[in-house]
Amino acid sequence: RWAAAVGPRRVLLASPRSFCAGVERAIEIVERALDRFGAPVYVRKQIVHNIHVVRDLERRGAVFVDDLAEVPEGAVTVFSAHGVAPAVREEAGRRGLRVVDATCPLVAKVHAEARRFAARGDLVVLIGHAGHEEVEGVLGEVPGAGALVEDEAGVASLRPERGVAYLTQTTLAADEAGRVAAAIRRRFPDAEGPRGDDICYATTNRQHAVRAVAAEADLMLVVGSANSSNALRLTEVAARCGHDGAPLARLVDGPGDIALDWLRGVRTVGLTAGASTPGAMVNAVVAALGGLGPLEVEERRVTEENVEFTLPKEVRP
Ligand code: F3S
Repeated sequence: RWAAAVGPRRVLLASPRSFCAGVERAIEIVERALDRFGAPVYVRKQIVHNIHVVRDLERRGAVFVDDLAEVPEGAVTVFSAHGVAPAVREEAGRRGLRVVDATCPLVAKVHAEARRFAARGDLVVLIGHAGHEEVEGVLGEVPGAGALVEDEAGVASLRPERGVAYLTQTTLAADEAGRVAAAIRRRFPDAEGPRGDDICYATTNRQHAVRAVAAEADLMLVVGSANSSNALRLTEVAARCGHDGAPLARLVDGPGDIALDWLRGVRTVGLTAGASTPGAMVNAVVAALGGLGPLEVEERRVTEENVEFTLPKEVRP
């Protein structure tokens, strides 16, 4: 098995990949909160959906909780990049928690749109994936006036008793979300939505970049955690770019997840990482592949990114 996996190989690195501005900001918020207020700093849910990021911050004194009830009265508490429902903010207020909000500004924008549509009496249809924290937060803005649809069948089963407006989760696959949005517009021609969709720049760019390399790859590795929506979507988009069964698209948390069998006969490996994956994990995968024979590494950059967000006032220098 080892011998079959050895060989000279080409690695095509998709670019952009790894951290987006919203993830960098969220991690920096926890780091600065630790510096300013000292450990422990409580974080509601995973700050971003990546196990390496979470473990690293835990080592530095962050305590991750699923529920605010686990946070002691008055403690410093960070809300994750995925955003929270207003009910969570209210609970934090009641408990006297010192909140630092790391919600990505592009998620906050979707919350604001949901409030605006609901205020004028529309049913707010959110295209997204059930159970994701971003979805819970956005629908929490419009209690009794929201509906989640995951696919075109979901659109067919809507029974609105008022006007319809729609929004999307920020980390969807653009092609799929476009089909569901089109189904909404066909069924409800007056439905208002965002211009295009709410999929963020980082998700869009990483999907363009993965397409650019997957078309040439025999195996496509996406580095990210299994609960990361944008990393899962990258894996699906890569798999859909294939031809004759290639590339095989695999989601891995790090080099340890790569099975030698996947590399049998593979000459070109496409490599990318979700927006919550540290660049160091990509380097670790390249290093592991380098251990299996000579490697030629090429980067395919489809666009430059220069988005930056300001920090919340509680942790601003
Ligand atoms: Fe924000 Fe998009 Fe990143 S919504 S957290 S910029 S993946």
